[in-house]
Amino acid sequence: MKNAEWRIEQLGLDNSLQFAIRYLQFAILMTISIIVAMTADRVIGKDGKLPWHVPEDLKFFKRMTQGHAIIMGRKTYESMGRALPRRRNVLITRQADYRPAALSVKPSDDPALDVLFAPDDESARRAPDQTCLDVVHSLDAAIELCRRRGEEKAFVIGGGKIFQDAIGRVEEMLITRIEGDYKGDTFFPQWNSAEWIDVGPADPTFQAATRYTRTIA
Ligand SMILES: NC(=O)c1ccc[n+]([C@@H]2O[C@H](COP(=O)([O-])OP(=O)(O)OC[C@H]3O[C@@H](n4cnc5c(N)ncnc54)[C@H](OP(=O)(O)O)[C@@H]3O)[C@@H](O)[C@H]2O)c1
Repeated sequence: MKNAEWRIEQLGLDNSLQFAIRYLQFAILMTISIIVAMTADRVIGKDGKLPWHVPEDLKFFKRMTQGHAIIMGRKTYESMGRALPRRRNVLITRQADYRPAALSVKPSDDPALDVLFAPDDESARRAPDQTCLDVVHSLDAAIELCRRRGEEKAFVIGGGKIFQDAIGRVEEMLITRIEGDYKGDTFFPQWNSAEWIDVGPADPTFQAATRYTRTIA
């Protein structure tokens, strides 16, 4: 990837062409999306939890993310309490020695990374290659890891800190609008609506979720 970017820069193309090539490279190799549920005031969390319980949104989240990678901050991981089954879970923390509780460490095929598996998870037992938890120390490292593992889709699933870092990096957002006046302490970042196109419902069976794709200006 780095070599390919170096070559693009050496071609002396103008910025928009460089951007288009990078976008294509990005899109062919792996799609990175944000998936989030928020109120009209952009509330996403309170006291380390979701302030609402919307089963239809949880089912939508599962349908969208199963079989793919999910990238999350340490606090979001701890609020879930476990790796989600049938997904490559990628946890971001600044703590060099962070060890998620209740998971056993399995030697990694990549010495630079800790790879942990959730052995008690029923789905993990059925498909051990599909459920795993990687611990990394930056969003860049999370994305690079997913690329290197050949993921075709990676979802940034939160929380607020990680969304803030990721919003400039993703080409798609799946946003569920939560109805109701929920108060919270964690918010989705403000985004420039001119940079995003509403392309309609993300899933025909769940109208509350909208898919936005990035405009190429
Ligand atoms: N509504 C939704 O769709 C949704 C989705 C996800 C989460 N949530 C909610 O959001 C809340 C959690 O969000 P949050 O913003 O408090 O926490 P978060 O983003 O989940 O996690 C923050 C942690 O991630 C690590 N981190 C963040 N930026 C980093 C960086 N640049 N480099 C390395 N590590 C970094 C740090 O971990 P260390 O402190 O370990 O270094 C930091 O404390 C909860 O209430 C949760 O329920 C809502």
